[in-house]
Amino acid sequence: MRKKFFNAKFYRNDAATEMVVEDGKIIQIGTNLPKCEEEIDLNGKLVLPPYVDPHLHLDYVYTGRNDGGKINSGTLFEGIARWHNIKKSQTKEDAKERALTAIQEEVSQGVQFIRTHIDVTDPKLLGMEVMLELREELKDLVTIQIVSFPQEGMYAYKGGYELVEEGLKMGADCVGGIPHFEWAREIGDKSVHSIVELALKHDKMIDVHCDETDDPMSRFVELLNALVMIEGIGPKTAASHTCSFGSVDNAYAFRMMGLFKASGINFISCPTENAYLQGRQDTYPKRRGLTRVKEFLQEGINVCFAQDSINDPWYPLGNGNMMNILDNGIHLTQVASFAELETAFNLITYNGAKTMMLEDQYGLDVGKPANFIVVNEFSVFEAIRKRVEVLASVRKGEFLFRRREPEYEIPLIL
Ligand code: FE2
Repeated sequence: MRKKFFNAKFYRNDAATEMVVEDGKIIQIGTNLPKCEEEIDLNGKLVLPPYVDPHLHLDYVYTGRNDGGKINSGTLFEGIARWHNIKKSQTKEDAKERALTAIQEEVSQGVQFIRTHIDVTDPKLLGMEVMLELREELKDLVTIQIVSFPQEGMYAYKGGYELVEEGLKMGADCVGGIPHFEWAREIGDKSVHSIVELALKHDKMIDVHCDETDDPMSRFVELLNALVMIEGIGPKTAASHTCSFGSVDNAYAFRMMGLFKASGINFISCPTENAYLQGRQDTYPKRRGLTRVKEFLQEGINVCFAQDSINDPWYPLGNGNMMNILDNGIHLTQVASFAELETAFNLITYNGAKTMMLEDQYGLDVGKPANFIVVNEFSVFEAIRKRVEVLASVRKGEFLFRRREPEYEIPLIL
């Protein structure tokens, strides 16, 4: 059955107002399209491709208080130490229930694509087992990619390398790593070599927690970028965080940005999380802790935003609302001129999809799956200015949810 969504405004397509869907795919997009059996009025609202959250820790969610919520330094390294203790008591049932709740929080706010890092520095690989089940069980509602991620180090944790490889053999989509957490620079370098070797051996994507520190000497992204450029797999690679790149000097940064552009590597910035965790050893001036998002956009280097944490040992807040992430991100990185705002939604939509290599199944184009969200505004500018709410999420032409616009018993008279 053909279905028409009409009276809409489409992001990045001013010419169209209607979309026809058949068998879950977009078959036409334009104006004055032929009549269909079912027609759905979108009341002139803005339609976007679904939000993408390309970096989330679904195994850690809602454990922020599990050790009494003891936060002293509020640093990344304290978070890793807290998780080391908290994870000892998790069960499969508990892990699955928590992850499911977090996915529901994200999906109910317009997310349909999630990349999650799952800690494999656990000989039982409990988190990986849970997430592989959920990826399969929920695939019609949400697309999940899994990173085999050694939270306590590929080498700092005994057997970490083997566990990462085991996670890949079980079915993870990406190789992860955390070179800045290894015990020496040389070992961090070794882990970056291992990550690239594993990706080539198992034909996987790469997503590295890379340089998540204010230390400007943490420059593992340089080696990662060089190795993936040599192998021609830059577009399959993401460097998450790269906070230190916000602290390095310009001479180094601009040399590196030329190389990032050449390799096609992707960057993922986690604005709320890193604004919270970084700058902890600074007095004043205090660093913002984010990578160079504005400059990446100017240089044509792909960069996107992510939630990272939902109430976990690193960060007490987070709720899967990507509009909140975008709002924080564009403030912290000063990507908020009128011209920049017109394309700012790319940071939580298209750019994330490109990072996750989803381009063949993502976007408001004929032939793609009819996946989109409807937000409660009529223009991109107003949607961002008002931190817009998602009214509906559509997956393969069917509503995942639909919300009524708020109604006021006593309407305000303007
Ligand atoms: Fe992370």
